[in-house]
Order: sequence, then structure tokens, then C-alpha cells
Amino acid sequence: MRTRVALVVTAVLAAVLVPLPAGGAAPPGLGRILLTSTANPATSQFVSWSRTKPRGGQRVVTVAPDGTVRTTPAKRKLGTTERTAGSGHARYVAKVTGLRPSTRYRYRIVSGRDATPWRTFRTAGRARDTFSFLQFGDTQVDNAELPARIIDRASRRHPGARLVLQAGDVVNRPWSGREWADLHRAVNPSGQYRSWISSIGNHEQCDVPSPCRSGDARGFRSYFHGPDNGFRGQRRTWYFTDHGPARIIVLDSFGSDLARQRDFLVKALRSNRRPWSIVLMHRGPFAARGDRDNATMRRWFLDPLEKHGADLVLSGHDHSYARARKAGITYLTSVSGPKYYDTSARDFSRNGATRQRWAERTSTYQVITVARSALRVRSFVAHRAGGAEPDAKVGDVLDSFTLRR
Ligand SMILES: [Fe+2]
Repeated sequence: MRTRVALVVTAVLAAVLVPLPAGGAAPPGLGRILLTSTANPATSQFVSWSRTKPRGGQRVVTVAPDGTVRTTPAKRKLGTTERTAGSGHARYVAKVTGLRPSTRYRYRIVSGRDATPWRTFRTAGRARDTFSFLQFGDTQVDNAELPARIIDRASRRHPGARLVLQAGDVVNRPWSGREWADLHRAVNPSGQYRSWISSIGNHEQCDVPSPCRSGDARGFRSYFHGPDNGFRGQRRTWYFTDHGPARIIVLDSFGSDLARQRDFLVKALRSNRRPWSIVLMHRGPFAARGDRDNATMRRWFLDPLEKHGADLVLSGHDHSYARARKAGITYLTSVSGPKYYDTSARDFSRNGATRQRWAERTSTYQVITVARSALRVRSFVAHRAGGAEPDAKVGDVLDSFTLRR
């Protein structure tokens, strides 16, 4: 008790000494604030941010509903560089711990004598607590335009969404500073109020045919701070995290360590005590794009997914919409930006999966509600380009299905 009182008093003093900047803006030189998920988001939260120049005294102040204040010092982590991400910024991350499940906390970042305006996050629930999250496919190009509008509309229409999953290819050219700036604009303010989980795509790590430089995905790894579940050789681009009744397993489908990821996937699925297993991977086991064959993903991941009880696999990469089913698993591919490919059932049908729904030249976002006995997915039409199929209006539900236990 004494420790808690001391912590509270110290923190209250710190909060009093720190003036709130006028106009609700972040202090100069501080930005790109992003909440990301720890492995145990019911009791902890990652908060990360950038500074144009490194500075000591970086911390997060958190206030619980009962007024308890915590101060969490930040650690400096991998920063960006001009050459590989278009800007050389320092990056900081704080892991706020000791939180209560399903609780809304106020927080702000304190940097020396400056502080950001107060924001809030809500911790994840326990295994029995129903929750909803938003899911986006690739955003990739023109993030300041269509993806920004889609993220904004989805966030406003579904303010109760606790979490965001994005299937990767957040940018097109990872060495472009403008692209990262646009992405952060698109993600905000959503990413200051709920955790973002992105599975790294091929573009972030330059697995593309054209000249490219990313410095081993330095931009992505700087901005998106994932958990470390303690697996040998684990990168923070693949991990699992437990939210309410779901374990969410994130894979790096273009990583050079697929054998290690396969072993991790087996363990993550087998050790899951929550009712549902949701897998997020940029490139899924079946290609929704007609001329692609995702044999590499099937070779490494299909067996573990089918043997160890995955329920829903979310992916992108193919710039179209497809839902398919095989061996009790639902596969959902989607796109949330303005880049589109033609789609086909070929890679599904020749590999034993049944495509159940599809759309072309149609961007969607998904609202996914997870309860102990039911997992409900609704895909909303967010944009239709010329030649889009099937007929639908922006705002319509393109697809809706429920998985049951
Ligand atoms: Fe991709």
C-alpha cells in the first residue's frame, strides 16, 4: 500500500508540474503516437511515439478510473533512418503494466516538461468478455486519401471497436518519408485510442520486383511494436496476443524464418485456452488473385492451422475480397486501399477449399465480434472503383457470417 501511495503522490506531483500544451496538440518534435498490443493486453499496454531528436525523460502517465496514477518510463527502441524510412527519428516505447481488465484509462506522454493532451485506452477483457474489433486489408497506396477516409468512417461508425487488425502492406515504398507520414495521419486518431496490430507485408520488407530499400523493414519495426512471447529467435513481427475470448496469432508471411514460425504457430494454437484462434497473415494459404499460387504458405502453415484448431485466417496481399472454407477454417482476404487485382476461385478450388463469397474492385472493412460461443464477421463496402462487382453500395454489408462453438 505504501508503495502505491508513494507512486500516486509522485505521479500527481509530476502531473501538476507538467503544463498541458495549448490547443490540444502534441509538443513540438513529438508525434506518431501509436498504441500496440502486448501479449497480455488485459493487464498491460504498449504506447510508442517518435521524437525528431532524442531526449531523456520520456514517460507515460496513466490514470485509472479511481484516480490512481502511474508513471511508466519509456525505453528508446529502434528508430527510423533517412535512408530506409525517409526520416531519422528516435522512437520510444513504454509498457504500462499492472492494469485491470476491461477498464478505460486516461494517458498522456510526458517529454521533459512537455506533455501531450490526454487520450484514453481500454484494456482487453477476460476470456468470457465479448468484444468487437475492426479489420482492414492492405492500405498501401495514397494513405492520406482513400485509406484515411475508410479508417475514419469505420472508426466513427463503430466507436466501440476495441482493437484494429490490419493485414499488412501499410505502405508501398518503405523508404518514402511521405508515405509513412500519410500512414500515421490515416491511423490517427484511431491509433491513439485502441491498439493497432498489423502483420508485416512484402512491401514493408522489400520483397518486391522493383528497386527498394527498407533496412530490414526498419520503418515498420520501428512504428509497430509487437510483443515477445519468448520463442527462440522470435521477431516482433510474429507473435500472439490474447483479447477476450480470442487468441490472435500474427505471422510474417514473407519472413525468411518460416520453419521457425511454423513451430511457433503449432505452439501458439496448441496452448490457446481461449475459445477462438484468429490468425492474421499478409499472404494467406490460398491466393484470391487469379494468377497467383500461395503454395509456400500452404507448405509451411496449412497443416498446423488444420491440425491445431485455427478458426479464422485474415489476410490481404491479393487486393480483392474472398471468403473461403476448408477443413473447418474460414479464410478471409480483403483490401482497404485503392489498388485492385482480378480475383478467381482457382487457387482455392485446386487446393481443396471452397470459395463462398468474392468481390472485385471493392474495398471493405470488417467488424468482427467475438463472444465465447459465436464469432461474427461483417464486411462493409467502403469504396467501389469503376467495374466493381458484385453490385453494392458504399455502406452496405457485402458479406456476413457467424462461426459457432
Ligand atoms: Fe502484398
